[in-house]
Amino acid sequence: MHPHTLMAQAGARRDPGTGAISMPLYFSAAFQHPALGQSTGFDYSRTANPTRQVLEQTMAALEGGARGLAFSSGLAALDAVLRLFAPGDALVVTEDLYGGSFRLFENFYREQGISFLYTDTSDSAAVARALDSPGVKGLFLELPTNPLLKVADLSALADLIRNRNILFLVDNTFLTPALCRPFDYGADVTLYSATKYLSGHHDCLAGLAVTRDAGLGERLAFIQNATGAVLGPFESWLLLRSLKTLPLRLARHGENALRVASFLEKHPKIRNLRYPGLPSDPGYRTLARQASGFGGMISCEVASPAEVQRILASLGVFLFAESLGGAESLITYPLVQTHADIAPETLERLGVTDCLLRLSIGLEDPEDLIADLRAVLG
Ligand SMILES: Cc1ncc(COP(=O)(O)O)c(C=O)c1O
Repeated sequence: MHPHTLMAQAGARRDPGTGAISMPLYFSAAFQHPALGQSTGFDYSRTANPTRQVLEQTMAALEGGARGLAFSSGLAALDAVLRLFAPGDALVVTEDLYGGSFRLFENFYREQGISFLYTDTSDSAAVARALDSPGVKGLFLELPTNPLLKVADLSALADLIRNRNILFLVDNTFLTPALCRPFDYGADVTLYSATKYLSGHHDCLAGLAVTRDAGLGERLAFIQNATGAVLGPFESWLLLRSLKTLPLRLARHGENALRVASFLEKHPKIRNLRYPGLPSDPGYRTLARQASGFGGMISCEVASPAEVQRILASLGVFLFAESLGGAESLITYPLVQTHADIAPETLERLGVTDCLLRLSIGLEDPEDLIADLRAVLG
């Protein structure tokens, strides 16, 4: 079945006892046993909850994967996946990535003897060199990267790790399964901050991990239950509801982002514009091959930090906030918000400067967004 059909009918036909079309919200933390040694399939909600399970199964089906697992946040999902690795292991990871993922790598997992090799994952030759380092057991990237929106060639990277016992992990938060299915290009696990586009309304903190392989899914389900950072039933229900409109929303986010990026591209006060949906963007061709759209994220630089301050204070439609992927357009200053945990020298080398702004283009009328930017940029 087409993913759009699966999304439109997310949660339907899943409660045969009532015929509910919207998957019911099962708040129950415990479930009555029919008899000693018997179970309805549900015993205790940390291990399995009916509403969460439908979300997890829907995500696995959407991705063409074996197992979906829902967590209390995107970082909780990443934390669970990192527990698959052991001291002495190394992971090749995107150098330009969400600051919270960096913080988790450096402040918790490095202490436990896991090392992280920061690499430009849009450069397959650089990844090939990094993969030859001792102990590499994982490759982790964001598609596209946050905040510079660089695009990795998933198939080329999958070729590099074929038969090498290296897990390929893709944070697909920015594209979602509505635009890209990383398993089709060789990934083993997809990760999501479902707080973003999957939720789509800035009202739900959630994370997801999906595995291509059932055995790996089993190991991750063990970790999910043993460590307990599961998604609650209400947030699971909210996500099932949001999935129904995901393709429509992503299409509109993409159309709006292209309109805004085309305006910014011509504006004399804007530098280093990145939107992978612009044919002039270095990631355009690669992303066009592996995704059916380009998403709603844009980054660009303005002239000075003072100009950043002025813009953030003056915008009237964009909201100054540090998230993305919802109906409302948000503008973020990565240096002091989402990426504050990364060393200043690293940020400067990467190009996350004190002049960089990240825009999450929402679902408003694009002319209102452009007028807002025109009014502050002049
Ligand atoms: C690409 C990406 N991955 C993971 C996360 C972490 O997700 P959460 O905030 O839901 O824990 C974020 C949060 O901004 C993100 O942007």
